[in-house]
Amino acid sequence: GCTTGGGGGTEITPGTAPGFPPFEFKNDDNELVGFDIDLLEAVVGETDYTLGSWEELEFSSLIPGLQNDRIDVIAAAMTITEDRDETIDFSDPYYNADQSILVASGGDFSPSSLDDLEGRRLGAQEGTTGESVIQSELIESGQVSESNYNAYGSYVLAVEDLINGNIDAIVIDQPVAQTFASQRDVDIAFTYETGERYGFGVRTDDDDLQEALNSGLATVQDNGTYEEIRNEWFSS
Ligand code: ARG
Repeated sequence: GCTTGGGGGTEITPGTAPGFPPFEFKNDDNELVGFDIDLLEAVVGETDYTLGSWEELEFSSLIPGLQNDRIDVIAAAMTITEDRDETIDFSDPYYNADQSILVASGGDFSPSSLDDLEGRRLGAQEGTTGESVIQSELIESGQVSESNYNAYGSYVLAVEDLINGNIDAIVIDQPVAQTFASQRDVDIAFTYETGERYGFGVRTDDDDLQEALNSGLATVQDNGTYEEIRNEWFSS
C-alpha cells in the first residue's frame, strides 16, 4: 500500500507481469525492463508521487493484488475493458493493439482467419484478452472444444509449447507477437482487429493517483519523452 516517504511524495508500489516483451520482460541480467517500466517511471516522475520497487505477479493476479493493496498501480500492457473497468479504474490510454495469431515457423499450418482455427489446439495467457478472443469467438461457437484450449501463466511458456508442437496457434497482442516472431521460430499468421487500448490500472477510490497519472502521461506525450521511450523499445 501507499506510504508517505520522507521528502518525496506518497510512494506507490507498481505491479507488472513480465514475459511480455517489449512491454515488460527480464533481460539477460535478469532485470525487469521494458516500455511499460520506463513509461511509468517517466509518468510518475512528472507527479508528486514516488515510485517504489516493482512487484512481479502473474497477469491474472494483478487486479486482485491492486484490490488487496499489495500494489498501487498496474503497468502491464493491460487492455481497458468494460469488465475490468467495473472493478478497477484506468488511466487514459497509452498504447493501441490488436490480437495476432502466432504459429510455428516452417510448419504446414498457416491460418488466415479465425475460422481456420477450427478443431485446433490453441494457447493464450490466462486472464488476457487473447484468451477472451478464443473463448468468445471459438469455444462459445463450438469450433474449438474447451479441452483444446491451454491457458498459460506466461506467454513465454505458450511460445515454448508452440515451438514444441504441443499447440497449433497462440492468440496474443500484436506488438508482442511481433517481438516473439523476431526472436523465436514463430510467425504471425494473421492479425484479428480488436482495437484494444492499454491503460495503467488503479483502485477505484484512488482518484488523485488516477488524475496524477493522466496529467503525467499528457506531459510526457507533449515533451517528447513518450516518443523517445517508444523508439527505444519499438525499433521498426
Ligand atoms: N493486453 C492483454 C490484456 O490486457 C494482454 C496483457 C498481458 N500482459 C502481460 N504483462 N502479460 O489482457
